[in-house]
Amino acid sequence: MNIKEVISKLSIDEKLTLLTGKDTWNTVAIEEKGVPSICVSDGPHGLRKVCTNEKGQTFTKEAVCFPTASALSATWNTELAEKVGQAIGEECSANDVDIILGPGTNIKRTPLCGRNFEYFSEDPVLAGELSAAYIKGVQSTGVGTSLKHFSTNNQEYDRFHVNTEVDIRALREIYLKPFEIAVKKSKPTSVMCAYNRLNGIYCSENKFLLNDILREEWGFDGFVVSDWGAVHDRAKALKASLELEMPYSEKSFDALKQAYENGKITDEEIDSAVERFLNIVFRLYNNRNNRVKEYNPDGHHKLAKEIALEAITLLKNEDNILPIKKEKIKSIAVIGNYAKTPIIQGGGSAEVKPIKIDNAFDRIIELAGSDIEIKYSDLYAAWSHINSINNLSTALTFACDSDMAIIFVGSPFNYESEGYDRTSITLPPHIEDAILKIAAKNPNTVVVIQAGSAIDMSSWIDKVKGVVFAWFTGQAGGSAIAEILFGLSNPCGKIAETFPLKIEDTPSYATYPGNGYASWYAEGIMVGYRYYDTYNKDVLFPFGHGLSYTTFEYKDLTITPDTASEENEINVKFRIKNTGNMQGKEIVQLYVKDTHSKALRPDKELKAFCKIDLKPGEEKEVEFKLDKSAFAYFNTSFNDWHVESGRFKILIGSSSRDIRLKGNVYVKSNFDFS
Ligand code: GLC
Repeated sequence: MNIKEVISKLSIDEKLTLLTGKDTWNTVAIEEKGVPSICVSDGPHGLRKVCTNEKGQTFTKEAVCFPTASALSATWNTELAEKVGQAIGEECSANDVDIILGPGTNIKRTPLCGRNFEYFSEDPVLAGELSAAYIKGVQSTGVGTSLKHFSTNNQEYDRFHVNTEVDIRALREIYLKPFEIAVKKSKPTSVMCAYNRLNGIYCSENKFLLNDILREEWGFDGFVVSDWGAVHDRAKALKASLELEMPYSEKSFDALKQAYENGKITDEEIDSAVERFLNIVFRLYNNRNNRVKEYNPDGHHKLAKEIALEAITLLKNEDNILPIKKEKIKSIAVIGNYAKTPIIQGGGSAEVKPIKIDNAFDRIIELAGSDIEIKYSDLYAAWSHINSINNLSTALTFACDSDMAIIFVGSPFNYESEGYDRTSITLPPHIEDAILKIAAKNPNTVVVIQAGSAIDMSSWIDKVKGVVFAWFTGQAGGSAIAEILFGLSNPCGKIAETFPLKIEDTPSYATYPGNGYASWYAEGIMVGYRYYDTYNKDVLFPFGHGLSYTTFEYKDLTITPDTASEENEINVKFRIKNTGNMQGKEIVQLYVKDTHSKALRPDKELKAFCKIDLKPGEEKEVEFKLDKSAFAYFNTSFNDWHVESGRFKILIGSSSRDIRLKGNVYVKSNFDFS
């Protein structure tokens, strides 16, 4: 029986009932009419399935806790993003979950946002490509996704009501772009609307957003689900093309029935909403027969570790203090509880109950063996890292007596979370003070930071030789940190968000979090490196930065054709060689710079990237194919993407500020305005 036949047999009351959840995690079934229920659960970095035991008590099912999105993003590896999507899809399938509520792909407008650990980047292309890969991976298992939070949910402060005021060009080029890439490339089965208002209208009833852009322009053919409790006027939401209100709301049916009886919503609107919704329900329900019924937790743990190893980012490595050299280092002071009890994720609806947790300390002991004496001291009570120090004297004594000190710090659990933003991007002052005191005792000090988003290290970074940013790398991150420190694995992560020198330097600082009603995105398109590079602002670490234990040489850039019309495909080729003595992976980044434009354009924009694995001495050719989207900006007069004739620079970089190769291409526009 096809969907239209099913719908034709439904009463109006049955149709309206379908358009809101049955409870928190399930949709309504109408068995007698052949309509099944499907189950949704959070992600996005692992399955958080809430179950109820025989006593009616709820509990979270254990699952593999993978690195969170900001760590996955630091890998710049779309293949890994697809693999983790597939793994999470398998865990959903084995637990009878039909949709994972992820990925989250909101742009990181401010480092303060509490949910930045759940999001990918400040750059729309990187965020979009990783989101698309994750969706492809999940949906390859027959499980669905819910791309979220559509859109401009870039702060947790007042998230349920804040009115984000965003000019159309910034909306198109920055905030909608990751969703556009993911929807067009991977066709998510659903999109979750955000809580906030966008330019005055709640996203849940914003027809421009949910229908005109998402459906009519991008061709989205799934259903729109509200964020939990995000619907204010159910009839307006339906008319704006929001199909499913979650969770169950007792007001929903009456609101829809009354609107129907008053002629505010029509049979056609209801039937098309039900059809779009049931298309996915039946697709996912029918997939159940062909989906896996179990998964391999050890295999998924190994994948979590593989991602952690590629995410961990070496930010500073003065005197090549890392990797640890056994011929030189005979004693190490390991300081800080997070060596033993790692911070693996942020707080809120994304919180996974891990099956097991590796820690760095145990693996450090293994790798040190009998060659290196390890002296451990905690530094703070792990649960109260924020405001207490203990055993500093022990830590200082060990640091004094050791060849090297490694300090483990980071964002305490729930310091970065859904529901609220950080109030500072520095480490707690007493932790900063402890770092300075320890570094004063031992010049060979390395700091390992476990956090979900940028940290201001400017008050202490000059006093330490090494900084390893370990992100929130999930249940396998601890052993990965140790293996990077000892050089079993060569670090290859690169930051997907700028690390500013201080929060006051950030482009959103003047207007975040808004005036209590509206948050005006006054910086427009100048988000992240677009701002810092255009206005030559110093930063702590630039977008795309990350060090390696080896070195890479870039050479032989060619651009063909070097003069083209906007329809032409531009081929960019170059060669990259591993000039060091250790295998390594290098993330190469292609930026485009419009050298002169009648419109305001950022200094550079990321348009392509890839990750190359090279043995010592090995070299490979890299090729990127650029289309019109690499050169266009959103012209608000045409209300469309537009390429302006002129010369563009092609910049090949190891980071946004470490440009290794430059070339030019002249692009002829189809229409130039004078
Ligand atoms: C939350 C979150 C959303 C999550 C949903 C279900 O409020 O904003 O990301 O998927 O509710 O828990």
